[in-house]
Amino acid sequence: MPVQTISWRDGRLFIIDQTLLPVEYLEIELSTVEQVWEAIRSLRVRGAPAIGVCAALGVVVGLSEARPASGKAAIDAARAAADRLATSRPTAVNLFWALDRMRARAATLNGTDTAASVFSALESEALAILDEDRRVCRQIGEAGAPLIAEGAGVLTHCNAGGLATSDYGTALALLFRAHELGRHFEVFADETRPLLQGARLTAWELQQAGIDVTVICDNMAAQVMREGRVQMVVVGADRIAANGDTANKIGTYSVAVLAKAHGIPFYVAAPSSTFDLTLASGADIPIEQRAREEISEGFGRVTVPDGVKVYNPAFDVTPADLIAGIVTEFGVLRPPLHESIATRLRAGN
Ligand code: MRU
Repeated sequence: MPVQTISWRDGRLFIIDQTLLPVEYLEIELSTVEQVWEAIRSLRVRGAPAIGVCAALGVVVGLSEARPASGKAAIDAARAAADRLATSRPTAVNLFWALDRMRARAATLNGTDTAASVFSALESEALAILDEDRRVCRQIGEAGAPLIAEGAGVLTHCNAGGLATSDYGTALALLFRAHELGRHFEVFADETRPLLQGARLTAWELQQAGIDVTVICDNMAAQVMREGRVQMVVVGADRIAANGDTANKIGTYSVAVLAKAHGIPFYVAAPSSTFDLTLASGADIPIEQRAREEISEGFGRVTVPDGVKVYNPAFDVTPADLIAGIVTEFGVLRPPLHESIATRLRAGN
């Protein structure tokens, strides 16, 4: 069953702490903007849509925390919270998309609003973002499930499941839906160095759903493809440029190149909130650089000698020409992607 990655109960924000999975399933409360910021930065909550939803609710948390005495003070507190949360992570555009929506809603409020009515308006907006994400993920699952052939081997990278969204996922939504429809298939989950979202999170989610899943190290994908065990690749996305170039977890680009070399279709699944049509190509997508310790002493054991340099980009960009299609809530966008994005996505159908 889908997981409640992010919950809003009685005006309080709770998340599943994903850094603890699969060993421990723990829900934690985030009651200050700094706690929300830290949770996003340290990947307690992660995945592009989930980051956006959490940040939107984080703005509401900021209102509770500030205890504003007037409507104007409440709007100022919301803006300050949004500005702070926008600095938590740079690549997933859903973060900025959701915060812009919160800012836009705040901008519609004026001096006659009380602090309570500002709270209520912004809480409704954040919950609308959460509900929309749930609905859109189901639509992505419905649109993409036909791509999962009976008996297929499907490879995925990182985690684009319920944990990365409000509850059903993007790439994994295709698998959940195909499974619900009774289709049989096998999933290869890339471990996804350095933080192991594939091994820890994707494998956990698919196991919970009763889907046949096998974890492989990232460097095994070519071998598994050569063995003829992969008929399709599907991954999520953190930001998609107007030409279809797609930023996703580091290692996605190499999987796409491998898929091309083996004649395997490579699909991306993402909601429209992951598209950044202000960017002409993926060259302009900011790539997050993360701490050396994630590689040099990941999960508590030193594996790189002291003093040796480490390079740790968290994302890479897969060129549009390696992508067979992008599954969105509006259906599957096909190449040429710059055209299908310009027509179907802009038109919203
Ligand atoms: O660093 P992460 O774990 O936030 O990276 C997540 C990914 O790259 C996901 O594949 C992407 O956000 C799609 S989530 C539906």
